[in-house]
Amino acid sequence: MNEPVVAADPAVIAGLDNYVNLPAAQQPTWPDQADLVRVRAELAKLPPLVFAGEVDILRDRLASAAQGKAFLLQGGDCAETFSDATADRIRNRVKTLLQMAVVLTYGASLPVIKMGRMAGQFAKPRSSNDETREDVTLPAYRGDAVNGYDFTLESRTANPERLLKAYNTSASTLNLIRAFTQGGFADLRSVHEWNRGFTDNPANARYESLAKEIDRAIKFMAACGADFDALRTTEFYVSHEALLFDYERPMTRIDSRTGTPYDTSGHFIWIGERTRQLDGAHVDFMSRVRNPIGVKLGPTTSTSDVLDLIDKLDPNREPGRLTFISRMGASKIREELPKLVEAVRDSGANPLWITDPMHGNGMTTKNGYKSRRFDDVMDEVRGFFEVHRALGTVPGGIHVELTGDDVAECLGGSEHIDEATLEERYESLCDPRLNHSQSLELAFLVAEALGNR
Ligand code: PEP
Ligand code: CO
Repeated sequence: MNEPVVAADPAVIAGLDNYVNLPAAQQPTWPDQADLVRVRAELAKLPPLVFAGEVDILRDRLASAAQGKAFLLQGGDCAETFSDATADRIRNRVKTLLQMAVVLTYGASLPVIKMGRMAGQFAKPRSSNDETREDVTLPAYRGDAVNGYDFTLESRTANPERLLKAYNTSASTLNLIRAFTQGGFADLRSVHEWNRGFTDNPANARYESLAKEIDRAIKFMAACGADFDALRTTEFYVSHEALLFDYERPMTRIDSRTGTPYDTSGHFIWIGERTRQLDGAHVDFMSRVRNPIGVKLGPTTSTSDVLDLIDKLDPNREPGRLTFISRMGASKIREELPKLVEAVRDSGANPLWITDPMHGNGMTTKNGYKSRRFDDVMDEVRGFFEVHRALGTVPGGIHVELTGDDVAECLGGSEHIDEATLEERYESLCDPRLNHSQSLELAFLVAEALGNR
């Protein structure tokens, strides 16, 4: 008897499930497998959050950043939370990114690719599986997509229903972002409006005077009869760390145009410092999707790791496919980054290099807060530009943890946030973020560095 003819499944051909045979770091322990299976099936049926065509455009944009013809600004919370997905907070983050982008575009005369760590940044890698407070030990908080932050057994137990809530919260966040950036709010002629509602401080004042210059330039161009359609809307992309296979795999779909897989949970996804093992599940899975991919590189990264990552994730050396996000720490970047950039340059590959000046600069204050010194953040950014200038390579972007809100989580900046202030306005459930004014200050520094390239 003849075997029945089975149509080849493109997901099988693409090897999307190969990762299940490999060690997967940082995955939650779900108490009930039946619930998980049901949730995964449900996620797989829900509409994609982003479209393959948008992802392809982003890849082209990143390719031009890798050539020094654009600059990537990527920013947002360390960990988004369900309760903070409110209109006000999303708008403040978008406004902060738009303001930073204006400072950079104007200061450096370069197009800026705007990308939120938003609409999907709900899962966190942790250094320990557990957390102990006094004599109680419970599972560590792994992000709202997995468990709750409250320190009770019920809240800290992983619950797969949260994956669906992560999807829904991402969908509503992205919907608002699209409304803001396509509906007139991001019109460059509103450059003053974006500063409204933020507290007075030196960075805001500096922004105001730049906004006045832009206003005058726009009025001048309008008087000359220029057409401003291009100023009305802006492209805005979303990104997150692709950590949880139980979310990313069901969100990965075969694009009907090309027959190839796209992870539709976000435009750009990255592999964290703790999950970039060459023979691990994350690298394998990400090697099979078409999205542009980021990889974090910490100070212990070897040149062979970097070259092997290129071979696995970007064997065809496709422009815009691969971004390295270095996060060395201010005291190490000038020592550790050059050999990596040099080896990559000499190999003929041309990934995008961006700096994450946050994750190598963690410290704990005397009064017990997880913080970062703004001066260290600035110094790592300076180091990043110095390294690329010395090697003749392209410093192509910046990746920051920020919020538009008036929090006090990082020390220093022109508002001189000190340890005592952290006690008043520290909100992050995870890493400390730059507040609105620190974010603007950083943008001015980067604009100067870009102008001097
Ligand atoms: C992060 O980006 O929040 C993070 C955990 O970074 P890294 O993987 O670089 O430690
Ligand atoms: Co973080």
